[in-house]
Amino acid sequence: MLPVEIRTARLLLDLPVPADADDVTRFCQDPLFQRYLTTPWPYTRAHAESFLTTYVPSGWASASELTWAIRAEHGGPLLGVVSVRETQNEIGFWMGSEHRGHGLMSEAAAAVCDWVLAGGIDGASTVFWRAVEGNTASAKVARSAGFRRIEPADATVPTRDGSTLPAWYGVREAEIDPRAEASWSGILEGAA
Ligand SMILES: CC(C)(COP(=O)(O)OP(=O)(O)OC[C@H]1O[C@@H](n2cnc3c(N)ncnc32)[C@H](O)[C@@H]1OP(=O)(O)O)[C@@H](O)C(=O)NCCC(=O)NCCS
Repeated sequence: MLPVEIRTARLLLDLPVPADADDVTRFCQDPLFQRYLTTPWPYTRAHAESFLTTYVPSGWASASELTWAIRAEHGGPLLGVVSVRETQNEIGFWMGSEHRGHGLMSEAAAAVCDWVLAGGIDGASTVFWRAVEGNTASAKVARSAGFRRIEPADATVPTRDGSTLPAWYGVREAEIDPRAEASWSGILEGAA
C-alpha cells in the first residue's frame, strides 16, 4: 500500500521520515513508554533510524502496519505517532510529552479510525484498542475517539519481554455505538 495522508482540523498525518529521527529518539526516552509500550528500552538513535528507514516503510509496503507521523503542517516537526496493525486492525499511538493534553491524540485517533472504517483498509468493520490496565490517558483517548469498552475474559497485552499484563480493551465501529461513552464509566470518571 502507498502511504496515505489524513487531514484533521488541526493536524496533518503523513509518513514518518528519517529527518524525524531526533524527535523520535527524544520522545521515546519517556519513562511512560517503558511502562506502557513495547518500544525498545533503553531507546537509542539507532532504534529511531531503523524504525524510520525500515519498519515504517516495510509496514506500509506489506500493509502489515500503517504508521503516520502526527504534525501540525506539511514539513512541520513530528509531534507523535499513530499506527494501525493488520492483525485485528489494532490502533496504537504515542504523543511527545510536550504536546499532550490538547486533545491532539484524540483528534488523530478518531481520524485514523474514520479513514480505516470508511474503506481505507479493505473490509475493516472494527478497529481494536487495548492498553495496559491503568493507562488512563490512553483510555481517555479511546473514549474520545468513539471506542466502546469491552471486557473479554483474559484481556491481556504483550510486554517487551514477552510476558503479558492485564489490559483494557475497546472497539470502534464506523457508526459510533450509542453505548460507547457510558461503557467507560467503570474505569474513567466524568463525561468525555
Ligand atoms: C496516551 C497519550 C497518547 C495521550 O496523549 P494526549 O495528547 O494527552 O491525548 P489528548 O490530549 O487527546 O487527551 C485525551 C484525554 O486524556 C487526558 N489525559 C492526558 N494525559 C493524561 C494523564 N497523564 N493522566 C490522565 N489523563 C490524561 C486528557 O485530559 C484528555 O481527557 P478528556 O478526553 O477527558 O478530555 C499520551 O499520554 C502518551 O503518549 N502516553 C504514553 C504512550 C502511551 O501510553 N500510548 C498508548 C498506549 S496504549
